[in-house]
Amino acid sequence: MDMPQAVSVIEVGPRDGFQMEKAYIPTELKIEVVNALIETGLARIEATSFVSPRAIPQMRDAAEVVAGVKRRDGVRLAALVPNPRGAEIAARAGIDEMVIFVSATESHNQSNVRRSIEDSLIGFEQIARIAARANSTLHGAVAVAFGCPFEGDVAPQQVSRIVARMMKLGIRSITLGDTTGMATPPGVRRLGRYLTENFPDLELSLHFHNTRGMGLVNVYEALRMGFHRFESSVGGLGGCPFAPGASGNVATEDLVYMLDELGLKSGVDLNKLIAVATRVEAIIGRMLPGQVMKSGPRLALHQRPAAKGKP
Ligand code: COA
Ligand code: ZN
Repeated sequence: MDMPQAVSVIEVGPRDGFQMEKAYIPTELKIEVVNALIETGLARIEATSFVSPRAIPQMRDAAEVVAGVKRRDGVRLAALVPNPRGAEIAARAGIDEMVIFVSATESHNQSNVRRSIEDSLIGFEQIARIAARANSTLHGAVAVAFGCPFEGDVAPQQVSRIVARMMKLGIRSITLGDTTGMATPPGVRRLGRYLTENFPDLELSLHFHNTRGMGLVNVYEALRMGFHRFESSVGGLGGCPFAPGASGNVATEDLVYMLDELGLKSGVDLNKLIAVATRVEAIIGRMLPGQVMKSGPRLALHQRPAAKGKP
């Protein structure tokens, strides 16, 4: 298949990234980052999570963050919602999209949300009703879809079983999360093919972590298969607090750099994105793993050092 001409880049740094940060990031800085990300041209941003403040204290200001963001036509704010309680709060906050999530393995689901996969799926029915009342879109996410740090390889049939249940709730758009960077191109092909064959109407987004340096390699493989929705985090922030060894997502600016070089349109301004990554690095106070934020684009030329005179 030919590569897609246009690619949707979905920013998840303010959620997947900030949730990993131990030190509390003041609400106004979170809002500043989301607003700056919107300025880069990103059209869908996972801004926060409506989760238990005991589970993830960093996300306790979810409603204030959503209230503080300058909303703009054509830009959708999404948030993770683990249970009906979170959905009610998210609905009141006016979120555009609720992301319901479940892990592909029992052990990861237990460690993430303290319940079985079946109990998560049952809870989604109530969330779906709350989302419909609030006119909020429902989006699904399957964590550890390409491998689980507790159980190893995940069979495509297992992911497919969860996808089928989500689709029964009316969901048409689902993210496959590579939570701890266990995906490699053969796994991307295997799961990608299996799901597109079984669910031709499904919109799939791919969410790779760069834990083993395979993030952009997996994106490239998925592009070759025709996939065109990718989630990434500015500066390469990210990780799952309930998965040992989890580290950052593919960095959004590295992804956009690659798309630009391939001639695939994303509508995102690389230079503005690099500026946001640099600002986030200052806010977090440690070096982020993104690469293009440090080197600049390929043709960002440098001043040639002055020639030394002959002795
Ligand atoms: N928003 C705000 N508060 C919530 C909440 C929500 N969505 N869900 C639960 N709470 C509160 C409850 O009111 C309760 O508070 P209290 O003790 O003061 O009464 C407390 O959190 C525990 O509630 P309970 O229903 O027993 O939940 P739990 O402790 O079994 O935790 C989850 C289950 C799903 C709520 C919790 O594990 C969670 O939020 N996980 C998020 C995981 C995540 O985001 N992972 C990263 C993504 S990969
Ligand atoms: Zn993630």
